[in-house]
Amino acid sequence: MSFLLPLLFVVLNLASSITNGDDHHKFVYNGFTGANLSLDGTAMVTPNGLVELTNDGIRLKGHAFYPSPLQFRNSPNGTVQSFSVSFVFGIIPIFSDLNSGHGISFVVAPSKNFSDAIPAQYFGLFNSETDGNSNGHIFAVELDTVQNREFKDINDNHVGIDVNSLTSLKSYPAGYYDESGMFRNLSLVSMEAMQVWVDYDREATQINVTMAPLHMAKPVKPLLSASYNLSELLMEPAYIGFSSSTGAAGARHYLLGWSFNINGPAPAIDIAKLPKLPTVGPKSDPSKKLKIFLPIATAAFLMAVGAAIFLLVRRRMRYAELQEDWEIEFGPHRFTYKDLFHATEGFQNKNLIGAGGAGRVYKGTLIGSKQDIAVKKISHNSKQSMKQFVAEIVSIGHLQHRNLVRLLGYCRRKGELILVYEYMPNGSLENFLYGQDGKCTLDWDQRFKIIKGIASGLLYLHEEWEKVVIHRDVKPSNILLDNEMNAKIGDFGLSRLHDHGANLQTTHVVGTIGYLAPEIALNGKVSPLADVFSFGILALEIICGQKPVKQNAQGVQHTLVDWVLEHWHKGSLVDAVDANLQTGYDIAEVRLVLQLGLLCSHPSGQSRPSMRQVMQYLNGDMPLPETFLTHPDFGMFHLLQERVSNLSAMSYPSLA
Ligand SMILES: *[C@@H]1O[C@H](CO)[C@@H](O)[C@H](O)[C@H]1NC(C)=O
Ligand SMILES: *[C@@H]1O[C@H](CO)[C@@H](O)[C@H](O)[C@H]1NC(C)=O
Ligand SMILES: *[C@@H]1O[C@H](CO)[C@@H](O)[C@H](O)[C@H]1NC(C)=O
Ligand SMILES: *[C@@H]1O[C@H](CO)[C@@H](O)[C@H](O)[C@H]1NC(C)=O
Ligand SMILES: *[C@@H]1O[C@H](CO)[C@@H](O)[C@H](O)[C@H]1NC(C)=O
Ligand SMILES: *[C@@H]1O[C@H](CO)[C@@H](O)[C@H](O)[C@H]1NC(C)=O
Repeated sequence: MSFLLPLLFVVLNLASSITNGDDHHKFVYNGFTGANLSLDGTAMVTPNGLVELTNDGIRLKGHAFYPSPLQFRNSPNGTVQSFSVSFVFGIIPIFSDLNSGHGISFVVAPSKNFSDAIPAQYFGLFNSETDGNSNGHIFAVELDTVQNREFKDINDNHVGIDVNSLTSLKSYPAGYYDESGMFRNLSLVSMEAMQVWVDYDREATQINVTMAPLHMAKPVKPLLSASYNLSELLMEPAYIGFSSSTGAAGARHYLLGWSFNINGPAPAIDIAKLPKLPTVGPKSDPSKKLKIFLPIATAAFLMAVGAAIFLLVRRRMRYAELQEDWEIEFGPHRFTYKDLFHATEGFQNKNLIGAGGAGRVYKGTLIGSKQDIAVKKISHNSKQSMKQFVAEIVSIGHLQHRNLVRLLGYCRRKGELILVYEYMPNGSLENFLYGQDGKCTLDWDQRFKIIKGIASGLLYLHEEWEKVVIHRDVKPSNILLDNEMNAKIGDFGLSRLHDHGANLQTTHVVGTIGYLAPEIALNGKVSPLADVFSFGILALEIICGQKPVKQNAQGVQHTLVDWVLEHWHKGSLVDAVDANLQTGYDIAEVRLVLQLGLLCSHPSGQSRPSMRQVMQYLNGDMPLPETFLTHPDFGMFHLLQERVSNLSAMSYPSLA
């Protein structure tokens, strides 16, 4: 007896293939035994003729397409004609009382290849990049069993009309309107077979979606109706089919029958001939359900307890910080680690705005005050000098000048010191000097303003505050720019950090090659004049748009100072200016800054001006020294050039 049954289905299926025979615009499948469908993923035809799009597994996707493409237009430039689809589906969730997913969608698409699509909430139709992309040319009707806020889903049991995105054009809870116009809800995961109709009207450019329990005639009033001109969406030709996916919990998604027609109603599906949905669902076997559920529930409970403990411990660890009695007086400058953690969204890499030998810098926003901050994490290991160091940070925090980046406070953890600065939206000068395609986009006024700003900030550090603060690392990446392109010096005073052994980097050189005054390299002598030297180099760099030390293909180093001097020597000083400036500059100002840059980067400290004098030269309150202008000591500079080359060839000992 049993061998007769498959035979019967084959005969039935033959009937359906005859119907779709050579007319590609009309077909009906009353069950799918022997049907020629394009299947992929987990999709398969079961022995009794169901299309099983997914099984119980998690994160699966399966597609079933009509194998050949369809012509939706009757001429290449015509509009998409009216069409009509009907299908019967059933969903068997793995747990009847758990949200399992994700549902079935009927789809019209330019291709059958959905290998790039993602399962779960993406339905095996899209991924995070393709969802919402108007180049998708995808029309779908989703039967969605999971509420996904990302796609503004209304609930976990709805029908939606989708155009290029799972954020539906229109959606409504699953159900139908009965003869009296009353809405009756249906549960998609009820394990009952249900029928859906999708009708498109070419004149009205209207899409209707209707659904009903299996044995009911098509309701008069559609569940959903949307106005959309599919001529503007669909590619020609297009494929039609179904897609299903599962997420964290599995569900079996089945198709029982399917019919399609262009310019006419979809052929009626013969309900009597449809294969039956499997009955071995969770509903029919409560003892099995209990067997599955008890261990799962127990395990889940234990995991929940474990997770709670883990979370508590992690919370303590995550926000743990070091705080000692002596810090009480610094209270107002102390940030809690928790606040900084939340401000930077857990120090996520997407918030990383800088990283270097000295630490990593993150952008953050304080939750309460909404203030933007830059958070610098430095690893440190020294206990002894911490107190002195923190006192220093706090005193640095008192420095206030329009050309200095404010240090707002600090936080301490085991092995880690965290400094909180005001946030500079325009980032560092380095980005502007060698930004896109290595070209400097700053105009002359901006460059001159930046140079004056740096000079003014350094003057404050050297002479105008109660203590002398030597920066020791003046270079483009330490100059930050605010909204109005004012220069603000960052990281000042912190070179002392290295003295306190706070940095784990053992071979860290305080200062950067190219900006390092020769006397520091030679005998470690640090004075404000070392900052003047770096300032001079930086000023030349800003005007010439070139790095202080360059290496040619033969490995020979050229300093920027040398290059500018050469131009001066040849009487073509202004040719040293960055070509990107063209002629948009004041020649007198350019000459002044180039010569001042050279004067500041004089190899002999005594020959350099103080920052106060630099300000006077820049403001035109005082001319550059006559002797320097008439007898620049070129020989002395060349000596320097040699020394710098020799030095940078050596491996640096720690100079701090
Ligand atoms: C299935 O359909 C495709 C596309 O129409 C066709 O190329 C192929 O020969 C068909 N296969 C069978 C077994 O009919
Ligand atoms: C279709 O439109 C294109 C350009 O819009 C035109 O070049 C072509 O001749 C049209 N074809 C027909 C059959 O009308
Ligand atoms: C489907 O597309 C992917 C790339 O998107 C490609 O690698 C793959 O070969 C395609 N598969 C088929 C069967 O065309
Ligand atoms: C329909 O909705 C009512 C109330 O919202 C609910 O009690 C009932 O279970 C639902 N029926 C189905 C089949 O989902
Ligand atoms: C859609 O439904 C409305 C009634 O709500 C009906 O007037 C219209 O003809 C239907 N369109 C299609 C294409 O079935
Ligand atoms: C639909 O769009 C097509 C192509 O843009 C256009 O030719 C046609 O007139 C539109 N149909 C309606 C009813 O607006």
